[in-house]
Amino acid sequence: MKAVELFCGIGGFRLACDELGIETVFANDIEEKASQVYRDKFSDNGFYQGDIAEFIGKIPDHDLLTGGFPCQPFSSAGKKLGIEDARGTLFEKIVEIINLKKPKYFVLENVKRLLSMDKGAHFATILNSLSDLGYLVEWRVLNAINFGLPQSRERVIIIGHLHTLPQSYLCSEEDLRELSTKQLENAATYDDWVDISLHTKSFSNWGMAYKGKFFHKKIVNFSEKQPYVMLYEVLDEQPDDAFYFNEDTLERIKNSDEVNRFYNGVEILYNQKGGARMGYSIFGTNGVAPTLTCTTSRHYERYKVHNGFRRLTNVEYARIQGFPDNHCDTATVYKQYPLYGNAVPPPMVKWAINKTINETPVLLQSLHI
Ligand SMILES: C[S@@+](CC[C@H](N)C(=O)[O-])C[C@H]1O[C@@H](n2cnc3c(N)ncnc32)[C@H](O)[C@@H]1O
Repeated sequence: MKAVELFCGIGGFRLACDELGIETVFANDIEEKASQVYRDKFSDNGFYQGDIAEFIGKIPDHDLLTGGFPCQPFSSAGKKLGIEDARGTLFEKIVEIINLKKPKYFVLENVKRLLSMDKGAHFATILNSLSDLGYLVEWRVLNAINFGLPQSRERVIIIGHLHTLPQSYLCSEEDLRELSTKQLENAATYDDWVDISLHTKSFSNWGMAYKGKFFHKKIVNFSEKQPYVMLYEVLDEQPDDAFYFNEDTLERIKNSDEVNRFYNGVEILYNQKGGARMGYSIFGTNGVAPTLTCTTSRHYERYKVHNGFRRLTNVEYARIQGFPDNHCDTATVYKQYPLYGNAVPPPMVKWAINKTINETPVLLQSLHI
């Protein structure tokens, strides 16, 4: 099986594909540092640095297309409902490539907010464009915390099967038991699906779409979750002194209000006075990390580790995202944070890819498309 990795960054999808024995035949990113890491850890072969628009002609045939595409709002989303609405965006490039190469499967990743932006208009555009190409699209919000990673990181995963019914779903049979018999029947009957253009609000955390129609429902249970891993289990053994805070910061920390509670699995010990934002909190290590982003850590994140106060190290960032400790070592410590913060956790997408290409018994057998 051959894969193409768009917007590859430091290769979150690539690591997952390597582990599954799927060969990556093309990868692309525009950013210099990410490209350096990708070339260093994988290979120059099939890797192209630059704007994706310039390399579409170089993309070889493949079975699986992956990509964590940058989230850009569509200026006219929901107006015409189709690829027209996505004109001029990077998502349009994905659609162009899928249309040109017609891979059997795709697995895309984005922020959860995509489901609710502009009352779902953006996601409607995405569903319409992808399902119009002949793919049965399924999406589900996944959280890194369920994949053995000490991080609360919710992302929407969007998968597609070309003109075939999937053999397994992102929602297991057990998870779907949350639906009533009637709802399950609706899910499995294409005629009962709703026109995507009739959507009026945010999309639920799980759903399916095909040829302009969709079905969605909120599913709470995630029966396939792996045992939780907490931050104290992935701490760097001997962090450099540079990661610890200076006297000034310590003085301010002393003036903080004690909180001592968990929020979404994150242990919040203190809130600094004058700033209620999470960014000014001091976290503990008995919980998980809040979502790593490309801007956090260096300035705002403060952790109480044993008796010291410090920020997380680059190695801890790698572990929290599910990468090898030295994955970004071609970049300076400071530059590694945004690279990891932008990445997709490989264990999470490995699970999603495996589901997408898996050959297990069909659940919604009566879904006729
Ligand atoms: C959300 S990140 C994806 C990270 C990746 N999944 C990973 O595991 O590291 C989006 C990526 O798209 C890249 N990008 C943005 N505009 C691009 C363009 N026009 N052509 C190619 N890549 C682009 C960015 O440099 C960034 O690395």
